[in-house]
Formats: sequence, structure tokens, C-alpha cells
Amino acid sequence: MPFPKSIRLVEVGPRDGLQNEPEPIDTPIKLELIDRLGAAGIRYIEAASFVSPKWVPQMADYREVMTGLTRRKGVTYSALTPNLEGLEVALECGVEEVAVFGAASETFSQKNINCSIAESLDRFAPVLERAKSAGVRVRGYVSCVLGCPYEGEIAPAKVAEVSKALYEMGCYEVSLGDTIGTGTPLKAKHMLEAVAKDIPIDKLAAHFHDTYGQALANLYAVLEEGVAVVDSSVAGLGGCPYAKGASGNVASEDVVYMLNGMGIESGIDLDKLAETGNWITQTIGRPNRSKVGVALAAK
Ligand code: HMG
Ligand code: MG
Repeated sequence: MPFPKSIRLVEVGPRDGLQNEPEPIDTPIKLELIDRLGAAGIRYIEAASFVSPKWVPQMADYREVMTGLTRRKGVTYSALTPNLEGLEVALECGVEEVAVFGAASETFSQKNINCSIAESLDRFAPVLERAKSAGVRVRGYVSCVLGCPYEGEIAPAKVAEVSKALYEMGCYEVSLGDTIGTGTPLKAKHMLEAVAKDIPIDKLAAHFHDTYGQALANLYAVLEEGVAVVDSSVAGLGGCPYAKGASGNVASEDVVYMLNGMGIESGIDLDKLAETGNWITQTIGRPNRSKVGVALAAK
């Protein structure tokens, strides 16, 4: 497969990034972050998460974020909705697109959303139906596609099974999450091959965390297979509160730099994105985990 000519970058920093902060970040900072990301040319931003505030207090201001953001033309602002309760509030807040999130690991599913994989799929079905009737598209996530913090190795066949179930249920795209960033390139490629037997490659996205520093290499491996949607987080913010030790997503700046070097279009202004990464990390007092962001700031 040739590399894609262009990719769609799904910026998950405001959600996946900030959900893992030890203290909740003030809503105005989140709103400014979202706005700056849009100004840098990002066309798809996961802005909030309509989950239980008892489970993830960092996302408790989902209403304020979703109704307070300044919508830019051509930008999709999405949010996580694990169940109907979350979806109804998200719809009230004018969300245009949502995502359900399942896992390829039973234990992770229990720890993250308090139910088995089968129960989660039963729970997602009415979410998809309701979203469809409201004209809202649904993305599907599968966590632990290259390893689980509790179960270790996860069989590609299991990833394929859960991905297929989400796709057949009506998710327009399935995002494959290396939640704990333990994957390596050939493993990523083999996992993708298993999933792509049932789902067209242009309906798959790569969501790689960088805990072990493998995310860019893994990304290269799946881009080579034709994946053209990449989830990333500005400054490499983030992690998952239910995956101890997991660090942030691959940094958006690092992804854009690599794509620019490969002649793959993303439509993103790298300098503005890097400024945003420096601004948010300084504002919340975090190290910038984008090597490109740090290098550009030092110039
Ligand atoms: P539960 O306790 O089984 O749910 O949690 P429940 O239906 O029994 O409800 C319990 C309480 O939660 C009730 O409130 C509900 O109203 C409330 P109470 O009566 O106790 O006051 N509740 C809600 N509140 C707000 N919004 C909602 C909602 N639903 C119920 N939507 C539940 C089940 C799914 C809600 C819970 O487990 C949860 O919120 N989990 C979220 C976990 C999470 O957000 N994890 C991080 C995101 S996933 C991720 O990061 C991975 C990803 O990045 C991909 C990758 O990297 O692999 C996507
Ligand atoms: Mg994630």
C-alpha cells in the first residue's frame, strides 16, 4: 500500500490529555486550548467527555466546555459518550459527533467502564440508535489493542472481533487504541491486518500512546498500510486514568513534523501548533512531551 496523500488528524489533547491531570484544569483554559488548536488548522477536536464526574472529575465541566467553545467553520468538536445518559446531555449541549469506547480486554473494560465487553456492546447499541436519529455521527474506540495493563498480551483476533462489532453497529470509524503504548511496529501492523480483514482501512484510525517511545514508529507502520486518520495530543499531553503508568498520546507536533517530512498533507500550521503546545504546558505546569515542540521553542 502506498502512504496516504493526506491524513485527518484527530486532536484528543483537550480530552485524553486533560482527563489525566491530577487536578482538574479550569474551564477557560480548556476553551482557550480548543480555540488555539482550531486556529492552528486542526479540523477535528475531541473537546470533552460526558462521563461520570465521580469516575473522571477532570471532565466534570463537559457542559461548560461543549456549550462554551467558539465553533470555527469546518471544525468538528466531538465528545465521548459511554452511555445514553451521557449522550442525552451531549445532545442538549449541541454536540455534532460523539464516540463510544470499548476495549479488547475484559479486565480493562471492567476497570474503565464497569462492565464486560459484551455488556458494553449492548450499552452502545441504543447510543448509536439515538445518535443516528439525532443526526450525530458516532466514532468507536477499542482500547488495549496492543496490550493491556492487567492482562498483558491481547490477541489481534480479539481486537478484530470488538472492532467489527462496533463497525457493524454503525460506528463510521474505529479508532485503535494502544492505551499503554507498549506496541511495536510489526505488532501494530499485524494487529491492523487482522482488523482490516473485516473493516475497510479508510474506516480505521490509529490512537497510539507513547509510553514506551514507540508511537511514531508504530504510526509509520500503519500509515504504510494505508491508515489515514491519526489521533494525537498536543504536547503529548495525557494518559488514561484507568491505565496506571500510561503516558500521553503521540504528540501532535511530532506527527505533523513527520508527515511534513514525508510530503503527507495535514492542513496544520506546525508553528502555531507548537506555540499552542508550549502555551498549554506552561499554563498547567507540565513538561512539553513533544520533541518537535521543544526544538522549535529553542530556535
Ligand atoms: P457505573 O457506575 O457502572 O454507572 O459507571 P451507573 O449507570 O450505575 O451510574 C452510576 C452513577 O454515575 C449515577 O450517578 C449516574 O447518574 C452517573 P449517582 O446516582 O451515583 O449520583 N452516570 C453519569 N454521570 C454523568 N455522565 C454519564 C453518566 N453515566 C452514569 N455519562 C460509567 C459507568 C460508564 C458511567 C463509568 O464507568 C464512567 O464514567 N467511566 C468513564 C471512564 C473514562 O472516562 N475513562 C477514560 C476514557 S477512555 C480512554 O481514555 C481510552 C481512549 O483514549 C482510547 C485508548 O487510549 O485506548 C478512548
Ligand atoms: Mg487514549
